[in-house]
Amino acid sequence: MAARVKVTITEMKPKIKIRLAIESVSLVLMLVLILSGCKTNVKNYTSSYEYRVDSLLKLMTLEEKVGQLTLYTSDYDVTGPTIREGYKDDIKAGKVGAIFNAFGADYTRKLQEMAVKETRLHIPLLFGYDVIHGHKTIFPVPLGEAASWDMNAIYKSARIAGDEASAQGLHWTFAPMCDIARDPRWGRMVEGAGEDTYLGSRIAVQRVKGFQGDGVGSLNSVMACVKHFAAYGAAQAGRDYSTVDMSDRVLREVYFPPYKAAIDAGAATVMTSFNELDGVPASGNKYLMTDVLRNEWGFGGFVVTDYTSIMEMIPHGIAEDTASAAALAIEAGVDMDMQAGFYQDALPGLVKKGIIKEDLIDASVRRILRKKFELGLFEDPYRYSNVEREKATIMKPEFLDAARDIAKRSIVLLKNDKQLLPLSKTQKKIAVIGPLANARQEMIGSWSAAGDWSKAVTLLEGIKSKVTSADHVLYAKGCNINDDSTKYLAEAIRVAKQADVVVLAVGEAALMTGEAASRASLDLPGIQQKLVEEIQKAGKPVVVVLMNGRPLTIEWIDKNVPSVLETWFLGTQTGYAIADVLFGDYNPSGKLPVTFPRSVGQIPIFYNMKNTGRPMDPNSKYTSKYLDESNEPLYPFGYGLSYTIFSYGDVVLSKNSISDTDELSVTCKVTNTGIYDGEEVVQLYIRDLVGSVTRPVKELKGFEKIMLKKGESRDVVFKLTTKDLSFYKKDMTFGAEPGKFQIMVGGNSKDLKIAEFVLR
Ligand code: NOJ
Repeated sequence: MAARVKVTITEMKPKIKIRLAIESVSLVLMLVLILSGCKTNVKNYTSSYEYRVDSLLKLMTLEEKVGQLTLYTSDYDVTGPTIREGYKDDIKAGKVGAIFNAFGADYTRKLQEMAVKETRLHIPLLFGYDVIHGHKTIFPVPLGEAASWDMNAIYKSARIAGDEASAQGLHWTFAPMCDIARDPRWGRMVEGAGEDTYLGSRIAVQRVKGFQGDGVGSLNSVMACVKHFAAYGAAQAGRDYSTVDMSDRVLREVYFPPYKAAIDAGAATVMTSFNELDGVPASGNKYLMTDVLRNEWGFGGFVVTDYTSIMEMIPHGIAEDTASAAALAIEAGVDMDMQAGFYQDALPGLVKKGIIKEDLIDASVRRILRKKFELGLFEDPYRYSNVEREKATIMKPEFLDAARDIAKRSIVLLKNDKQLLPLSKTQKKIAVIGPLANARQEMIGSWSAAGDWSKAVTLLEGIKSKVTSADHVLYAKGCNINDDSTKYLAEAIRVAKQADVVVLAVGEAALMTGEAASRASLDLPGIQQKLVEEIQKAGKPVVVVLMNGRPLTIEWIDKNVPSVLETWFLGTQTGYAIADVLFGDYNPSGKLPVTFPRSVGQIPIFYNMKNTGRPMDPNSKYTSKYLDESNEPLYPFGYGLSYTIFSYGDVVLSKNSISDTDELSVTCKVTNTGIYDGEEVVQLYIRDLVGSVTRPVKELKGFEKIMLKKGESRDVVFKLTTKDLSFYKKDMTFGAEPGKFQIMVGGNSKDLKIAEFVLR
């Protein structure tokens, strides 16, 4: 038996503040070797960490290994229905490898000390958190940011979030959400980039790069987590957690690409989804987690479950008990169990009984340890928990400026009759009315976990900051967001009548979107529709400012109110950003990342539908349409106005016919013919007219956001290759098929200039 030895590594390696109380000489030597390897520059040790991961693994008991596969929430914040009392005892006992919902340099340091000082092997914890659209400085909700179509701004928002989160001791964000969402009843549409695969993929890349900065291990970044794999956004009837069932073709063509793009961009981790797919819940789905993710896509990071989704395999009806659920998950390729504790409870027994091979567990432990090494946690487990850096970083003025900048870029001008907007700053009386006009608590939107709503700027404050005298601004609430009380209505009508112009802020409460926030009606909640109608009747020009996390059915507003701005939930700087647009300090440039239906009955409605064998013909009954509703959306995908006017020239192609190795240049002249400088998102769509399987009527394949001064023209040039024309053919191979294609260019998915070419 080896002697019991106590070694303090600090004496040998001053930078390593880990106290070891170790039970055998060989263990000591191994640990010294493993850890001393990490003493070198963080950037340089990656080549040797594989050896150290293996060495560490050899020292671990089965229980310690399973501990590394376990993630528990702290009681600091809770983002789901369960909490495990005594998680701190679990940390000290080495039963947990990662903690979420704990942040702050000081607090994470304390928890880290428990793991590092009190467990046998001193393995540091990972700290994860939902940093979805900013950490302390809150940016627009992701759907709103997507409306900016501005890749630099989206990158910057994630970069700042990574900087702030890592300064609060976090190593890992549970973002980006890459779920394509075509059903606005589903409240989680707010967390993604909307309905389109191409736009969603481009945005996913920026978010991963932003969060991860110079890479895992760089001090001011966090690991990204691509979620929710897979197809969570296709929940039946738009009900959260509901069943998903779709063909492999749609899965691969529409839903997979944003996850894949995020993984190709280097995302360190992936989260499973709550839903089943083809009858198998994602957390037990080997096809998804192993065949596709690891074997096809070469993903080398680790996979974590979404919350208690291993446990949920029991009510799903695919596992009978804890042991069978845990076995399904580990065999599927799921590395880390969030919150269920099923791995901890069942895996050791399953291995001892010979049901699960320990190799499988080792593979998962390796994937997790690798990330801990990459993060530099073995070199210095507290490197992200630095109070000075935290103080210097959180909500810096430059972060607030960036938040205001992306917020104004995310606003979509839906309607502007007779150029009611922009408003004059010297306006005599502006009435600011509505339940969202001064609702500070709502401004940062849902999933703004660590965000401090008390620091948000309301619309009323933003407007007051612009006008020559704050006395010119009147305010009335009008009604609550979501109840039937009419007690504030009369006062609002009275205020509207005194004004020269009314800015009317209506929409949803922040928590009406996000997780577990599906809605069967997309009308304005409560009596807000009545408020809008009454204010409109007051006879003053009205600007409706919408705040919401999904498309709403606002046909009445579109018909009756002269100006409408879609502002989503814009985050900390909401009021300033909206005021920038209202008063023309910024010319709106956002475009919808999702189709706005006229009525809920049209859902799902999205721009890249199929033509069908009986496309809609108003004069023929037996065609694909409704008896009581138009087929047309209220606002199409890609739509958004500007204070200026952009006109599009013809689409000019470099060739009328290309071979499969050619590149096609598509040129379109865009001119700013209006009276303001402005930015336009020039969009390119294709249609493959005949395929071995039917193709959508339009597919976005390129876009560019350009700035044009008034009177200025620019040739916007897109380059297309056969990759852009490719799809999953009848035999499920990916490629382009010869034949005729249409190319469409314009400022939204409906009003487009068309040209044709042939792929030989
Ligand atoms: C459940 C949500 O679905 C997921 O998106 C989130 O990251 C986890 N809870 C952790 O809060």
